[in-house]
Amino acid sequence: MIEPVSGRIRVWDLPVRIFHWSLVACFATAWLSSDDAEALHQWAGYLALGLVAIRTLWGFVGSRHARFSDFVPSPTDFCEYAGQALRGNEPRYLGHNPAAAVMILFLLSMIIFIGFSGWLMTTDMGWGNDTLEEIHELAAELALTAVVVHVAAAIYESVHQRENLVRAMIDGYKRAR
Ligand code: HEM
Ligand code: HEM
Repeated sequence: MIEPVSGRIRVWDLPVRIFHWSLVACFATAWLSSDDAEALHQWAGYLALGLVAIRTLWGFVGSRHARFSDFVPSPTDFCEYAGQALRGNEPRYLGHNPAAAVMILFLLSMIIFIGFSGWLMTTDMGWGNDTLEEIHELAAELALTAVVVHVAAAIYESVHQRENLVRAMIDGYKRAR
């Protein structure tokens, strides 16, 4: 596909955007209900798992920048980008940049791990297992920490590239070049 050199270009398709903000809502709900609203907590967690499953499929059949093949970097690409980012001269990417991509893969994996460990707690095997509960809680805290870094990076990159990346995740559009 030939990309326009000026104007705005549609980067994130509707499923990607709906997925992102629904995942944020599910994670926030699961987090906030983790102390006392058991049913809500479990529903939000399972919904997050379902969203990640759909997003994974979409990563193979979705539009160009939704595909894993478009953004999952090789270790070499990641290291090169990280070096450039540390020097403050990283290139702009229309889709996810290599560092964002690694964070995205980490967040998706963490949701799966948290959901699976949560489900295990409801089975005969995991019922009342304190270690499992601690692992589940620790994983949720690690994921929340990663989310803070993810949001900070999105803001930093928005300032650095003079482009509102959060808005792009809402309306789907980015500057063409
Ligand atoms: C529970 C919280 C969050 C999780 C689990 C999460 C996860 C993700 C995932 C999986 C993607 C990849 C989207 C895709 O290709 O389908 C993504 C991208 C993105 N997220 Fe989040 N996110 C969270 C919160 C936020 C928040 C609060 C913001 C902003 C205020 C934000 C801003 C962005 C942006 C700007 C991108 C696109 C990054 C890029 O341009 O490469 N995220 N996030
Ligand atoms: C994004 C998904 C999830 C997040 C962020 C999350 C987070 C947490 C956190 C932070 C706690 C610790 C609460 C505390 O003791 O203070 C917790 C407890 C728990 N979670 Fe999850 N969770 C998620 C998904 C799930 C799922 C899918 C299930 C199972 C269906 C589940 C079942 C449980 C159970 C049984 C507990 C122990 C509740 C208790 O008795 O204290 N969670 N979760």
